Amino acid sequence: MAQDLDKITQDLQEAILRGYSQKFKDEFLAPKNIGKLEKPDSHVRITGPCGDTIEMWLAIEDGEISDIRFTTDGCGATITCASYVTTAAKGRTIEDALAITPEDVINYFQGLPDEHKHCAKLAVMTLTAAIEKYRSETGE
Ligand code: FES
Repeated sequence: MAQDLDKITQDLQEAILRGYSQKFKDEFLAPKNIGKLEKPDSHVRITGPCGDTIEMWLAIEDGEISDIRFTTDGCGATITCASYVTTAAKGRTIEDALAITPEDVINYFQGLPDEHKHCAKLAVMTLTAAIEKYRSETGE
């Protein structure tokens, strides 16, 4: 019975992920940087045009993103894109992190279905908003 359930779960996962690259599947199955930071240097909550929201926390030291976390009520693609964006931003200067574009995310995943391209945009918009909030509050 448990084996049947495992098989059903696996079949479902494969059906959901059909058409996505291996890179996307790997990130989807092991997303990174999910959670919150206790004392962030910046915290934003951004809702995209589809109504999904990403919340993001940044820790910044000497102009570099030293830690970053997110939560979302969005779809699997949103989690996967935010996982990649936060991983790409961690350890970068805020200027370098601002250079990350939705196209970078889509290219990294070797394409996304049209109906999920906006998930990459929402992840990047949230990172940008978090950095801009930090800049406007600190003048850095
Ligand atoms: Fe809206 Fe993924 S479906 S962000």
